[in-house]
Amino acid sequence: MLDVLHVTGGGCVGGTLRVSGAKNSALPILAGTLLVNGIVQLRNLPHLQDVTTMIGLLNLLGARFLVEESMHLEVDTRDIHCFEAPYDLVNTMRASFLVLGPLLARFRRARVSLPGGCAIGSRPIDLHIKALQQLGAIIEVKNGYVHAVAPNGLVGAQVVFERPTVTGTENIMMAAVLARGTSVISGAAKEPEVVDLANFLNLCGARITGAGTAEIKIEGVPALQGSCDYTIMGDRIEAGTFLIAAAITSGQIRLEGVHPKFLSCVLEHLILTGAMIDQGDDWIALDMQGRRPRAVSIETEAFPGFPTDLQAQWLALNCIAEGEAVVKENVFENRFMHVQEMQRMGAQLTLCNQSVTSQGVRALHAAGVSATDLRASASLILAGLVAQGTTVIHQIHHIDRGYEHIEAKFLNIGCKIRRSLHQGAEERTEKAVQ
Ligand code: UD1
Repeated sequence: MLDVLHVTGGGCVGGTLRVSGAKNSALPILAGTLLVNGIVQLRNLPHLQDVTTMIGLLNLLGARFLVEESMHLEVDTRDIHCFEAPYDLVNTMRASFLVLGPLLARFRRARVSLPGGCAIGSRPIDLHIKALQQLGAIIEVKNGYVHAVAPNGLVGAQVVFERPTVTGTENIMMAAVLARGTSVISGAAKEPEVVDLANFLNLCGARITGAGTAEIKIEGVPALQGSCDYTIMGDRIEAGTFLIAAAITSGQIRLEGVHPKFLSCVLEHLILTGAMIDQGDDWIALDMQGRRPRAVSIETEAFPGFPTDLQAQWLALNCIAEGEAVVKENVFENRFMHVQEMQRMGAQLTLCNQSVTSQGVRALHAAGVSATDLRASASLILAGLVAQGTTVIHQIHHIDRGYEHIEAKFLNIGCKIRRSLHQGAEERTEKAVQ
């Protein structure tokens, strides 16, 4: 049986939500615990399928866990005895590849499955491998696995990324923490999650400066100590999704537990749609004052540009906004699988290469649609909120990888949403054949 979501359109979003811990911080920080010979406390971990997958992988490697209370985990990495991330786990979640740098740095060897293809593009890992080789790793790719060893330990080096890669920067930063000597990463990703990881590692004794800029300096240390207690930052992508939910429904929302500075590009674009934005140190409020949003063009870029992880949600907004706009995807080559689904709901969209032109309609109409990836799932929920009738979203399991308590949160801000079990077409065919 497969889960489906039923979203009934009409009505405005209204209310207050607390943003969950950031998935894209939690995953590298969990991988980063492999560098520590001790016990660390992690707080504000989101309850997500991807986090469970990473905990499962660390457990396989020998880490032990104690769930202290909701969203608080104790991780003990003193007894790591396995150095392999198998195909089934890396295939389920690309971010499993983040264990390569830490394993190699602390244990001088690792065997990690190559990530498979991905719904949003080919997503190679060539930049990770080249950079690890610059730190002295000997790497062989065979039988679908990356075999990496550094018999005498990694050595600090100058690493230049020809394009910014988020998990690539994180993998190399973690590897360099225990390397002999100093490393400098140029062309580094500047995403806030890279900074969150650096802050966690520094708390454990690493010496990293410059995270959040294009040049990160890491002075290698012999070991990282345990006993640190770290709170993971709020999820700016979840926050952005709920802000767009309020804007698309002409509603209002207040989000707590998120720093507005991490969403400044998105907030600037929301203001252009007609939204009134108010903000404090760790909260953002948006009010459309009942107005229909104006369509606004965006181009996705690495941070601090418009995040690719909010592109699909923004396109949903443009579908019903007043006027024409263009959404251009510059980060991934195949991240428009949601366009066809939105067209099924009556959206006026034209896809050409890496751009989608929208002509806003006043409302969409409900249809059966399928989610193709995590953020596309979120965009279809938003489209469902402004569709006449009840939209049924299939393949909704993608959403549980990255959004905590998704139905509860939407219900809490006045949306009509419900999950049910659905007998899939494949299962029906199977039964018919038997
Ligand atoms: C991370 C995020 C993901 C987000 C993406 C871009 C995590 C766990 N995931 O993914 O949610 O959508 O950043 O903000 O943090 N590339 C190469 N070779 C490489 C690595 C990357 O060509 O070795 C390319 C990719 O195909 C892509 C671009 O670089 O076109 C950026 O990808 P990257 O920043 O690496 O994305 P991820 O770290 O996988």
